[in-house]
Amino acid sequence: MEQSKREIIVSGIRPTGNLHLGNYYGALGKFVKIQDQHDCNFFIADLHALTTASDPNALHANVKGVLAEYLAAGIDPEKATIFVQSDVPEISEMYLLLNMHVGIGELMRTAAFKDKARKALGITAPTSGDDDEAFEHEIIGASTNKRVNAGLLTYPTLMAVDILIQKATKVPVGKDQLQHLELTRRFARRFNSFYGVDLFPEPSDFDFGGAPVKVPGLDGSGKMGKSEGNCIYLIDDPKVLRKKVMRATTDEGPKVPNSPMSEPVANLFTLLELTSAPDVVEHFRNAYADCSIRYGDLKKQLAEDILAVTTPIRERIQDILANEDYLRRVVRDGAERARARAAATLAEVRQIMGIRPL
Ligand code: TYM
Repeated sequence: MEQSKREIIVSGIRPTGNLHLGNYYGALGKFVKIQDQHDCNFFIADLHALTTASDPNALHANVKGVLAEYLAAGIDPEKATIFVQSDVPEISEMYLLLNMHVGIGELMRTAAFKDKARKALGITAPTSGDDDEAFEHEIIGASTNKRVNAGLLTYPTLMAVDILIQKATKVPVGKDQLQHLELTRRFARRFNSFYGVDLFPEPSDFDFGGAPVKVPGLDGSGKMGKSEGNCIYLIDDPKVLRKKVMRATTDEGPKVPNSPMSEPVANLFTLLELTSAPDVVEHFRNAYADCSIRYGDLKKQLAEDILAVTTPIRERIQDILANEDYLRRVVRDGAERARARAAATLAEVRQIMGIRPL
């Protein structure tokens, strides 16, 4: 397909530690699949990581780590533009400009912000009642200033800018990021209509034909996440990985044919569906339905199937990390390409908003 006609794709991952299966099935694995057909732009969201990171050396090391994981997973810098978010300063300027069209109310109602702010303040969400009202009450006035920074609140603005500054139309992400994507569309529409322009396309999730991906953790509930301590990392060695899977929470097993699944067991099946061949999934589903299932067998199979995905990636990471010149070259070239389009969009935004030379 002609270069300029290809769909523009943007997505990023925060360098807050090693990448896990959630990042892989929600994002990285998809990046690799689509890089041949589209104009792909994959970045390392170090500015977003700053909203929660407090150790500068760890942040710096994690940028390099995630870059190596991108490359080890198979993102090809000849096909896709790979860059570090902070290497494109146009993003920071446009973040300031777009913030003028973003309301603090809509930011405060974002699920990810509520989650992170509550975690930082050590408070739990109410199980009933008006969550927005309870949240506003907790957050304003609590000893919030030190622990919940304004960057966390304006996180969706920055994410919208990552996408809009490249005029991307498709954004491959996991289910947890869909609300941010919805906000991005809203900000794009608002900007276009406020100034009577048709500058930003409204981006949507990349449709792979299935439901949005939410990789569960191994602890029986919720999603796999770095801060939940329930992750399988791409770099886990086989012994560690097998141990983690074998220890995953289950239940006592079905006693009656075709009984409903408990959440921990349903989660194991979700992981199995992502990783294993359809006949393997079918086999264990049937075994669950007729009560002959042994969770130990399922876990053994699951661990081996996960290892088949992660082992080639793990084996490449060390070599890539050792090649500092190569890593530097990849992000320097990537930043150059990303900046070209970002600078053009920023110039338009400035012009439209009235920030013009005298
Ligand atoms: P981050 O770093 O939290 O996660 C990176 C990607 O991994 C996906 N993911 C998951 N998917 C399924 N199941 C899980 N358990 C799971 N955990 C993580 C996330 O959905 C995401 O796709 N805000 C983004 C980074 C970002 C971005 C952007 C993404 C910044 N600017 C612009 C797209 C476009 C984030 O926090 O990702």
